[in-house]
Amino acid sequence: MHDQPKFYPQRGTDFYADGRSVRPQVENTVARTQLHEDTYFYTGLIDGKEGNGLPFPATIEVLERGQERYNTYCTPCHSRVGNGVGMIVLRGYHKAGNLHTNRLATAPLGHFFNVITNGYGAMPDYSSQVAVEDRWAIAAYIRALQLSQKATQADVESGKHVEPLTDIEEREGFAADFAKDWTLPATAVTGTPDGGVYILPTPGTQDAKPESKATPKPATAPAASATVAPKQ
Ligand code: HEC
Repeated sequence: MHDQPKFYPQRGTDFYADGRSVRPQVENTVARTQLHEDTYFYTGLIDGKEGNGLPFPATIEVLERGQERYNTYCTPCHSRVGNGVGMIVLRGYHKAGNLHTNRLATAPLGHFFNVITNGYGAMPDYSSQVAVEDRWAIAAYIRALQLSQKATQADVESGKHVEPLTDIEEREGFAADFAKDWTLPATAVTGTPDGGVYILPTPGTQDAKPESKATPKPATAPAASATVAPKQ
């Protein structure tokens, strides 16, 4: 018991002929759970190009999981609405990508998977924090988020209607310019009376508005989210 025969890491042995205590992988075998046969699921690539499909059905559960993971791992930089002005950016980090640009709105789903897996420019990769399946769920959720900002009547079920953001702004009494494009503010001030964050306007762009009101909670399903009115 006291003195057991065992190998210590990185130490040699005379037990094996090659003198190595760390054994090489056994040829033609695959460790359990490491058979990554479904390459699209693990890479997001088809013939070396980013593919545009979700490798499993997009159910409401998948979108909810994506929303939850997105809100956890992406909002610090990209913000809940995905405009790239998250709290870390407000405090000086490199401006994160705005997920609503035309380029990203039409980018294949595999692109989002790829960015999370490998990082992109100033963005570190999140492959060790976000599981493979969750990366796809986030990609699907981003698509819903994009749709929620650009939906047309054709995107929603009959009986539901798409409402322009300007109407929502008026009805809900949001700050003027709420419905306009949001630009990166020059300065941010925290600790305002209502606990929200007031974003100071960059000259000539927009009025100050509380961020707490400027972050409509996107609904979870593409259909539902497209229906409108992010209720506060
Ligand atoms: C620490 C801050 C940070 C976090 C957290 C973060 N990103 Fe980013 N992201 C960035 C920055 C910065 C850029 C812009 C990189 C550049 O242009 O160099 C970016 C760019 C992107 C882009 C645009 C890529 C392109 O083609 O232009 C996507 C998509 C993206 N991020 C997705 C995500 C997702 C999904 C998550 C959550 C899993 C996430 N990011 C988390 C900082 C972050």
